[in-house]
Amino acid sequence: MNKYLKHDGWKIIEDGFIPANNRASESIFSLGNGRMGQRANFEEGYSGDSLLGNYIGGIYYPDKTKVGWWKNGYPEYYAKVLNAPNWIGIRIKVDGHDLDLAQCGVMDFVRILNMHQGYLERSFRAVLPGNKIVQVRALRFLSIVDDETGNIRYEITPENFSGEFEVTPDLDADIMNEDANYKEKFWDEVDKNSSDANRATLTAKTKKLDFRVCLGMDFSLHLNGEKLDPDTELVEKTKYIARKTKVNVGQGDQFTIYKHAAIVTSLNHEKESLPEAAEKQLNRAVGKGFEQMLREQAEAWEKKWEDSDIVIEGDLAAQQGIRFNIFQLNQTYTGEDERLNIGPKGFTGEKYGGSTYWDTEAYCLPFYLRTSDPSVPRNLLLYRYKHLHKAIENAEKLGFTNGAALYPMVTMNGEESHNEWEITFEEIHRNGAIAYAIFNYIRYTGDEQYLFDYGLEVLISISRFWRQRVNWSEPKQKYVMLGVTGPNEYENNVHNNWYTNLIASWTMEYTMYVIDKINRKAPEKYQKVVDKLGFNDITETNAWREIIENLYFPYDPERGIYLQQEGYLDKEQMTIHDLKPGERPLNQTWSWDRILRSCFIKQADVLQGLYFLEDNYNLETIRKNYDFYEPRTVHESSLSPCVHAILASKLGYKEKAYNLYVRTARLDLDDYNNEVAEGCHVTSMAGTYMSIVEGFGGMRIQDGELHFNPFIPEQWNLYSFIVKFRGRQIKLEVDKDKARIYNQSGQPISLYLFGEKHTLSQEEHCEAPHES
Ligand code: BGC
Repeated sequence: MNKYLKHDGWKIIEDGFIPANNRASESIFSLGNGRMGQRANFEEGYSGDSLLGNYIGGIYYPDKTKVGWWKNGYPEYYAKVLNAPNWIGIRIKVDGHDLDLAQCGVMDFVRILNMHQGYLERSFRAVLPGNKIVQVRALRFLSIVDDETGNIRYEITPENFSGEFEVTPDLDADIMNEDANYKEKFWDEVDKNSSDANRATLTAKTKKLDFRVCLGMDFSLHLNGEKLDPDTELVEKTKYIARKTKVNVGQGDQFTIYKHAAIVTSLNHEKESLPEAAEKQLNRAVGKGFEQMLREQAEAWEKKWEDSDIVIEGDLAAQQGIRFNIFQLNQTYTGEDERLNIGPKGFTGEKYGGSTYWDTEAYCLPFYLRTSDPSVPRNLLLYRYKHLHKAIENAEKLGFTNGAALYPMVTMNGEESHNEWEITFEEIHRNGAIAYAIFNYIRYTGDEQYLFDYGLEVLISISRFWRQRVNWSEPKQKYVMLGVTGPNEYENNVHNNWYTNLIASWTMEYTMYVIDKINRKAPEKYQKVVDKLGFNDITETNAWREIIENLYFPYDPERGIYLQQEGYLDKEQMTIHDLKPGERPLNQTWSWDRILRSCFIKQADVLQGLYFLEDNYNLETIRKNYDFYEPRTVHESSLSPCVHAILASKLGYKEKAYNLYVRTARLDLDDYNNEVAEGCHVTSMAGTYMSIVEGFGGMRIQDGELHFNPFIPEQWNLYSFIVKFRGRQIKLEVDKDKARIYNQSGQPISLYLFGEKHTLSQEEHCEAPHES
């Protein structure tokens, strides 16, 4: 835990420069615009400890695998989001001395992430040799309006001297990934050019796959608001281009550098025309100018907030926490490009390789369902649909046949790109999350057309996998699923993980339900799928039915709980209260062997299943399982506390729900797991959002209708959120006494508040007291 940030409703504020926190701050203050993102590195450079990070969605590198013991079936490569060419550089020398916060005195340092308007600001006073003090204010943003541009305003004022400032705005493709397996550099130069004194372009390509990125920059210099026109000198090195210039600045004068950058890639442009595309973006940016672009950025962010904000009154830390989560989610994925997805760290670090995990379907989808146009969550589903052939290939590599699909645990392009046997081969529950996301999307949007056109193919292919993955056990006279890793990664190669068996059985059942529906509603479409997949709907569904009826589910009748896996109760039973304070997180203090043998659970596992399929279980069953598993769960995956918070809310454990919420909402801001330096936990942020919406707000969809059963945590005076639902927008507001629901759309809507049905016409609201 490290609480060094100030509380504020709309801003993240770091007051004072502590180099040991720099990596953490670089993650937390990251910027993104859906297409790309970057860590909060310093424009002037920094020779201290720092993780340089610029990332572009969809641009990755297949780094040659490095493992101790090769196992057949491992992918040849580990896909990595590339640390991309860096456009933020503005090197500064003051009377010959580098401005480098690792080398000079630093005073009045403040770093602010303005979440409301989508920019990063930094100010400080630096003490250089000869006791020369400069004041600096830097502001930059990645535009969400012109989303192939980044823009910087960098202001310097010599406080107690007049001197010569050497300024070198640059573009740099000589960049490394810190996690490169063989310490290779992944970029080669293609070309660079600077025929203009204030402009340059640099194109680089990846050594494999030939992704190309072209950076362009255009800068201008101003003294006390007057534009300067000094000579600039071209500086060139391999994979690097810059323009250097010197300006004399008098004491107290304000020297400003505006730098616009274009970041264009071969994902969206012809390779040959990249420099031209960059020039176009630069012309557009220069034409608008920095201040106008900043205004447009603020307006665009305002709109995003109108769709997705959650207001909390009476608890500033919670307010800041939820806005930080929503901000990061909106920075990471906009849903405009179905080739892109959401890496667990978004654009804030290298960890998890920027790849797609089950996190997207299990956690992120519900956020985008509620806050975006339905095309956005639909694009998340289409991403997997387009990878279906790869999922089938992936299953074939492991020996499965007949069109069985195993979606990858970690992927960039549909291929599995992770190689740890316990995850790659065993964490097959991810297949279930992909099926569940289809159900979740249809339940929310009612878009059955998606099922007909795409969903059914995916469901049949996944169900085929489950059928082949189980086997008949003679002693048990049941189907069993052996050798899996459940969501709880603190246990591998277990038999009959309850959650995995559940989601497998559920997928087959849901697939049959969908088959029946499509067969009735759109028989021609159904026949098309049958023909395409060579699907035998009698023998295959009979086999599924047989498995569903006879699948083994470990259960302890004495406690009335589902067992996480066979043998779970043989473990020495302890709870988190038996751990010493310094022992957590266990993964940083215990040997892996000890963790595997212990009963401690990394993240929601049985409870994940009860959360997904809660309608199939009565409250007592959920309570017994929650009461048993929560004290054994160490929440060392960021994905865990939110599920527990939602269930705790449902069970009326309000204080517990609140504490879990705070943990998930401020996980990165207060660095609960001592790892924010590696990047923020972006995918779990959607879970945080759901802790309020489904947890405290008690929002559910049942039979196509909205239900709310809200309460308010004791610590809060009021909270409110907006959700989009089937062409409507409604707002839930809960204060200490009452819950109110406003229909903010032009059409009427029927919904349930505490079980009572209300039909609200335009701008109408309903209200009811609650029992909090
Ligand atoms: C969790 C996985 C998750 C991954 C990426 C791991 O720590 O155990 O469930 O998919 O992180 O977020």
